[in-house]
Parts: sequence; structure tokens; C-alpha cells
Amino acid sequence: MALLEVDDVVVKFGGVTAVNRATFTADSGQITGLIGPNGAGKTTCFNVITGLQKPTSGRVRYRDRDVTRWPVHKRAKHGIGRTFQRLEAFGSLTVRDNVRVARDIRGGPLAWARTAVPAARATSKGNLEIDILLDRVGIREYADERADAIPTGTARLLELARALACDPHLLLLDEPSSGLDETETDAFGELLKDLARQGVAILMVEHDMDLVMAVCDDIHVLDFGQIIASGPPAAIRNDPAVQRAYLGYADGDDHTAELDLTAIVEPEVQS
Ligand SMILES: Nc1ncnc2c1ncn2[C@@H]1O[C@H](COP(=O)(O)OP(=O)(O)O)[C@@H](O)[C@H]1O
Ligand SMILES: [Mg+2]
Repeated sequence: MALLEVDDVVVKFGGVTAVNRATFTADSGQITGLIGPNGAGKTTCFNVITGLQKPTSGRVRYRDRDVTRWPVHKRAKHGIGRTFQRLEAFGSLTVRDNVRVARDIRGGPLAWARTAVPAARATSKGNLEIDILLDRVGIREYADERADAIPTGTARLLELARALACDPHLLLLDEPSSGLDETETDAFGELLKDLARQGVAILMVEHDMDLVMAVCDDIHVLDFGQIIASGPPAAIRNDPAVQRAYLGYADGDDHTAELDLTAIVEPEVQS
């Protein structure tokens, strides 16, 4: 059984079916991509997995338990962490305090930092654990800055640090690379691979196809709320249904096998 199983989930908003019988999985040690055109239902799927949105029908299973009716905080406590498409950090707090708040909500020592540097276990007070985490995501130099004064790319990484401070088994990332430049995106990809190697299950909504294709073990493609393809990057890239979904072709012809999805996937508008 996979760590996360989304099973036949439907979400209706009035007359709009945002998610239509979606079934997919994400597993420990793997990076799983959830991609699709704007409005396909990706964020709604995340909300169903974290408990922010009740599905109209269908189930969410996590670590062999049916969590469909669990509230958000219970899921978080059991290791489902996320970042948001819109940045959600506390602007008036420092970067370090933003991470501290997340860690304090979770409670207890930070297992993740302990794994990184065993010496951290000995330090019961001070900022060491948090600074290790900030170091790990590459924003230590901003530790004392207010969160509303840092560049967007750094704020994205702060979101990641806050999610990691809760020691997630399952990490949901919604558009994590928006606002990162190319170099930052490459480093970010390496960081994700590293986290997966440590056993975290990563489920990522992302419009940067280069990043998705480079880091994902598996990809699920949503279109109008339905999963239209699932598989490893190479298979997804060449899947005619996926190419049609992104291009809007209706004739079913294989227009190009070397389609560069990057060029045709529009970034989501931040509001
Ligand atoms: N709270 C809501 N109320 C009504 N419609 C919504 C709500 N959230 C999302 N939708 C609609 O559901 C569809 C899927 O949205 P969303 O999950 O945000 O897509 P994506 O993240 O793939 O861009 C869209 O048509 C969107 O307008
Ligand atoms: Mg979205």
C-alpha cells in the first residue's frame, strides 16, 4: 500500500465539478508530480488531502487509515505537511521565528534536524535546530530578517522550511518554484531529491516542466478534474492525451513527440 491513496475523489462546487473521480497515489521516498492546465483541480486535490475541502465522494487513505473525515489539524499532527500556492508566512515575524512557530505547533524536538546533524540533539535551547533547517533550505542568512522583507524566492524556501519544521511524512508542495530563478530552481530540485532520499513522500503541483521532468519519479496529469495519465516522466512527456490537454487539440493526431511542455504551460496568476 502506498503512503497516500486518493481513491475515486469527486469535488463539486455547485455546478462545477472541480475534481472528477481522481485516483492516484504518492509514496515514501518518491517525488510525485501532479500537473495539469490552470483550473484542472490540482489545488482542490491538495485541499482534499489536507482536509481543507471535504470531497463530495471518494476516500483519502494515509498510512493505511481512512482519513477522509479527519480534521486538518489531526492530519497535520500525523505528518501531512504542505506549502501554499500563495505565500502564507507571518510577515511581521522574522524568518527564524516563522519556523519556530511551526516547530512549536508540532511540539517536541525536530527529528529531521537531528538526522542531519546528531550534535543538535544535545542542544535543548537556542536556535540551533531551526538554524540547521534554515541552512538546509539555504536561507540561513535571512534568519533575522522580517518575513515580509525577503525576496519572493526566499519566501518560497521559508514556506518549505516551515513545512519541514513539522516533520512531515508526506509533503505537499503547491507551485513551489514560482518566484525562484533558474539557479535557485536547480538547487531546489536537489533539495527535494535529498528529502525524498531521507524517506519523505513529496507530492508536488508545479508548472515548471523542466523541474517536474527532472525530479519526479511519477507524474499524474489532471485535466478538467480527471486523471488522464499517470506514469514516469518519459511516458508522460510522450502521451498524446497529455499533449492534447495542454494544447487543446481535438483531433487525436500525434502533433509532436518532442513537445516542450514548458513553453505551453502558463504559470498560475498569483492574486
Ligand atoms: N472554493 C471554490 N468554489 C468554487 N469553485 C472553486 C473553488 N475552488 C476551486 N474552484 C474551481 O474548481 C476548479 C479547479 O480549481 P483549482 O483546484 O484551483 O485548479 P488548479 O489548482 O488546477 O488551477 C476551477 O474551475 C475553480 O474555479
Ligand atoms: Mg492551483
